Amino acid sequence: MSTLKTPLCELLGIQYPILQAGMGGVAFGPLAAAVSQAGGMGTIAAISPTPQRVEQEIVLARSLTKKPICVDIGFPARAPKEVAEVKLDELPGPIRQLQLEVEAMGIKVRAVDDQAMSIDDAKAKLEICFRHKVEVVACALGTPKWAVDECHAHGVKVIGIVGSARHAQSAMRNGADVIVVQGTEGGGHTGDVGLITLLAEVLEFATVPVVAAGGIVKGAQIAGVLTQGAQGVWVGTRFINTLESSVGNNYKQSILEAGYDRTIRSLLFDGLYVRQIKNRFTEVWEGHDDEMLPYPLQRLAMGPVRFAAAAADMKDHQPLPAGQGSSIIRDILPAGEVLARLVSETIAALRAAQQSVQFS
Ligand SMILES: Cc1cc2nc3c(=O)[nH]c(=O)nc-3n(C[C@H](O)[C@H](O)[C@H](O)COP(=O)(O)O)c2cc1C
Repeated sequence: MSTLKTPLCELLGIQYPILQAGMGGVAFGPLAAAVSQAGGMGTIAAISPTPQRVEQEIVLARSLTKKPICVDIGFPARAPKEVAEVKLDELPGPIRQLQLEVEAMGIKVRAVDDQAMSIDDAKAKLEICFRHKVEVVACALGTPKWAVDECHAHGVKVIGIVGSARHAQSAMRNGADVIVVQGTEGGGHTGDVGLITLLAEVLEFATVPVVAAGGIVKGAQIAGVLTQGAQGVWVGTRFINTLESSVGNNYKQSILEAGYDRTIRSLLFDGLYVRQIKNRFTEVWEGHDDEMLPYPLQRLAMGPVRFAAAAADMKDHQPLPAGQGSSIIRDILPAGEVLARLVSETIAALRAAQQSVQFS
């Protein structure tokens, strides 16, 4: 069995410093369990699903592995109670257009119960984590002190996910045990600073382990960020193309087919930048940023068509969040195999560096 360890492994109770990222619609019980069982840290994405669904996925993961798991919860700073509903006849033009096209292909667009907007919802999910003794909670969209304190009171470790040095500082100030810094290369919500720079900046002041994210799909990249000072990696897109991820085959094929220039950061999804593969879904919004509704209205307005297209695995009309690393993903494998390959590639790259770089 290979050894690849950093102090992060001890802190989180895992064998390898490779964490599978929380990914809405992608990462549920089966994927999280497969990664944890293989020695990494598997994460259940719990931002949008109902608390009941989150509980089911935790129970499912627990039935598949006894190893630690992580649950990724959203703590939106702007979580307005007063936003009740967006009237479908008042949608911005591009969203209406998308909806017409989706319906013309026989897909029904219905109202959805997207939980991502409420702090009460986040609290309910935390309670579920505590009840099921989840070992690690990852905080997306902000790392509030009250949530960190509650986790610590229950013996749960907290990861703060950030895309800027300023947010890293506030997550640390609020008590996060680990900081994930996500470079702009990453899939999903992403900032505009590249990983190699963001990591260097955060490492200048970090007092807790820092984990690197964004574009990582190969062991040589992991060796690179470990050498830079990261204690682990948080890998998203590579784990979409696994047998256990919850998206359809069209999504996975789109990643296999993506060239280096196929991802774009678009506001269409919810008014915040989301890196995704270009398709009709992103094209319809191009040139329309001035019609953007303020967060979270855009998310609410997009919800029905977005969820309908994703449920039908429509290649051109569903959002396909994915990182720039898509262009070097060439297969769909069991998640445990992906993890094992990342570990062995990392070890090989670290060894190769010792051979090829002379220093004294
Ligand atoms: C499909 C997809 C969905 C995502 N959803 C979430 C999410 O629900 N919560 C979250 O914290 N981050 C989310 N992210 C960002 C990931 O947690 C992670 O930071 C990112 O995937 C890392 O970059 P990579 O995809 O290049 O590996 C998502 C990313 C992807 C690709």
